[in-house]
Amino acid sequence: MYVLGIESSCDETAVAVYHATKGLIAHTLYSQIHTHSEYGGVVPELASRDHIRKLVPLIKSVLADADLQPNHIDGIAYTAGPGLMGALLVGAATARSLAWTWQIPAIAVHHMEGHLLAPMLEHRPPAFPFVALLISGGHTMLIEVRAIGKYHLLGESLDDAAGEAFDKTAKMLGLDYPGGPKLAELASRGQDRFKFPRPMTDRPGLEFSFSGLKTFTLNALHATEQTAQDKADIAFAFQRAVAETLNIKCKRALQQTQLKTLVVAGGVSANQEIRRQLQQMTSKEGAEIYFPRPEFCTDNGAMIAYAGCQRLLAGQTQNLEIFARPRWPMNQLPSL
Ligand code: KG4
Ligand code: ZN
Repeated sequence: MYVLGIESSCDETAVAVYHATKGLIAHTLYSQIHTHSEYGGVVPELASRDHIRKLVPLIKSVLADADLQPNHIDGIAYTAGPGLMGALLVGAATARSLAWTWQIPAIAVHHMEGHLLAPMLEHRPPAFPFVALLISGGHTMLIEVRAIGKYHLLGESLDDAAGEAFDKTAKMLGLDYPGGPKLAELASRGQDRFKFPRPMTDRPGLEFSFSGLKTFTLNALHATEQTAQDKADIAFAFQRAVAETLNIKCKRALQQTQLKTLVVAGGVSANQEIRRQLQQMTSKEGAEIYFPRPEFCTDNGAMIAYAGCQRLLAGQTQNLEIFARPRWPMNQLPSL
């Protein structure tokens, strides 16, 4: 079964073809960074228009790369939410229309389920059950995963998501959008000089709160002459605080659930310091850790094609409705 996957929930137009037994066949992505960078963040209307421009050419190019004709495709998976409504509608309407034209089923995929299953695209995929840490621009969640669609939320962020905190802090340090990777690069030149808190780690529970770190960044910045080295040292302190906070909560989640497998996914899981700390912690705990390859940590079409393929194989499909949900709790997903 060949499944075409379409991702258009935010500022990346991404398309992939995944085969049920042969694995990932082809994937491609167009990033809208240049469209939004002059505004310092994603402009929803511009995102929708760019998806309209790019989606069909990308579908053609991925089919050409895969050496497939439309009649080889057995199903279409598209990101139906959560995300920007206009952006989602472009992917959903295109996917639904193509599926109708090609007389094949379509399936609506939850963007965060796509992230969660991205490590399944690797040579050594994790086995259920596991604890998943999902860290993206819009979400920070710890989930006990029993199987596809069997998700029990252990804790989430009460305010800013981890990626959002990276982006906002980066902005304060004068870095361009999207700030996460740029902040990480700046932090690599920083030294251990400032002490930032590890929010909500001094009490039980698996909730997160990252918005307070912004105040610390601002105060630290104002206490210096704001030289390049000062900013690098602040980036270092911020990144370490986020990494250690995630680490403490993941360790707690593994202990609480008695599970020995941790899966980490979403854009922020591309961060090397976070990966290093979590790797160290799981190895001490005698647990296994799994990440997607860095390019599949951030938004991509492969994870959507994979997740959709699993649901289509289980017989799930969407009716002719163009299904898009800007907000869509993961616990509303059916199990397989
Ligand atoms: O998963 P994703 O591509 O999109 C959403 O679903 O939100 O995540 C994007 C987020 C952005 O906030 C971006 O700054 C952050 O992931 N990010 C990083 C890194 N790469 C991407 N944050 C920290 N370090 C990185 N290397
Ligand atoms: Zn994402």
